[in-house]
Amino acid sequence: MTVDNVNDVTEQTWKDEVFPEWGTWLNEEIDRTKVAQGKFAMWWLVNMGIWIKSDHQTSIAIDLWCGTGKTTHDKPDMSPRHQWSRLTGGRKIQPNLRAQPMVINPFAIHNLDAYLVTHFHHDHIDMNVAAAILQNVEEPIPFIGPKDVVDQWLDWGVPADRCQVVKPGDVVKIKDVEIDVTDSFDRSVLITDPDEKNLPDDSQVPDMDERAVNYVIKTSAGNIYDAADSHYSSYFAKHGQDFDVDVAVVAYGENPIGVQDKMTSVDVLRAAEALQTNVVIPLHWDVWSNMLGDPTEVEQVWKMRKERFNYKFHPFSWLPGGHFIYPDDKDKLEYYHERGFEDCYTHDINLPYKSFL
Ligand SMILES: [Fe+2]
Ligand SMILES: [Fe+2]
Repeated sequence: MTVDNVNDVTEQTWKDEVFPEWGTWLNEEIDRTKVAQGKFAMWWLVNMGIWIKSDHQTSIAIDLWCGTGKTTHDKPDMSPRHQWSRLTGGRKIQPNLRAQPMVINPFAIHNLDAYLVTHFHHDHIDMNVAAAILQNVEEPIPFIGPKDVVDQWLDWGVPADRCQVVKPGDVVKIKDVEIDVTDSFDRSVLITDPDEKNLPDDSQVPDMDERAVNYVIKTSAGNIYDAADSHYSSYFAKHGQDFDVDVAVVAYGENPIGVQDKMTSVDVLRAAEALQTNVVIPLHWDVWSNMLGDPTEVEQVWKMRKERFNYKFHPFSWLPGGHFIYPDDKDKLEYYHERGFEDCYTHDINLPYKSFL
C-alpha cells in the first residue's frame, strides 16, 4: 500500500517502501533471461553470492546472503574465542557495515534447482534465504554444503531430507549441470567456531573438509571455479591441473592491519594464473565498509604483469547486481550497468528550448 500522507508514515512504512532497495528488479531479470545454447549466465548477488543459469535454464545459487553487518555501536567486545580475537589479539568489534544495497529479494525466488553454500560464515549462509527457499520454491530442491553448513541448516529447522552433505571429491548432478566439490583454503574458517556444542580446543586444527569446500560448476558452455573465501594457496595450481576452468570467482579485499583474510590484488592474479582460468572475477571486495577493495587495482596490476608473465587470462571488474554472459563477455575488462535511454527520439520531443540542445 502506498502511503501519501505524512500522518500515515511510520518507520515500518518507510522500510516497506525502501527495502530491499532493488525490489524484485533482479529477480525478474534472472527469471526472464533465457540463456542461449552454448552459453551460461551469471549474476553477482553481492559479496560471494552468485547465481548461475545454464543453457538448459538450470539455476544454481551459491552463497546467497541477504543479511547485514554492524548496525549499532552498542555491541559488547568480541569474545576471546571470536576468530578475529584469536587472529589479532584484539577485542574491539570491527566496523564492518554493509556497503551495498540489497539487490535481490530472496522471498521472490520461485525458480531454483539447487542452493549451495561453501562454508558457515554468516555472510555466506543465511537463515532468511533458507526460509524463503523452503517457503517459495515449489520443487523440494537440495540444500548442498559441507558438514558444518548442513549442521547449521538443521539447527535452523531445515528438514534433514532437504540437506546434502558434500566433501572434496564428491560430484553432484543437477539436471544438465555437474558440480565437482573440491578443497577449500579458507584459513579464517578454521579458527571460527561453528554453532555447535562440541568445540575443538584452541590448539586443534579442525578438518577443513567439514568446514568449507570450493565448487567447480560444469556447464555445457564452460566451467566456473568458485574459490569462496579461500585464501591464496599454492594448491590452486593442482586445481588448475585437475579442472578445466573457464571463469574463476575469488574473494578479494583490503585486509586491515593485523588481519590476514582476503586475497590481495597480486594474490588474485596468482590464483588465476595457477587455476589456468580464462577470466578471473574478484568478488567480496564490495561488501564490508572496513575492507573495501577496488577491482580496478587488480586490472592495473594485471596490466603491469601480463607481458612479463605471459598471462593467458584477464580480470573482470564486476558490479553487484550485474550480469556476466559466457562466452559473450569473456573479453570484457569492466562491467557497467545498463545505461538505458536507447529509445531516445522514438517520439517527438516536447521542449520550449530545442534550439539549445
Ligand atoms: Fe568466510
Ligand atoms: Fe566471506
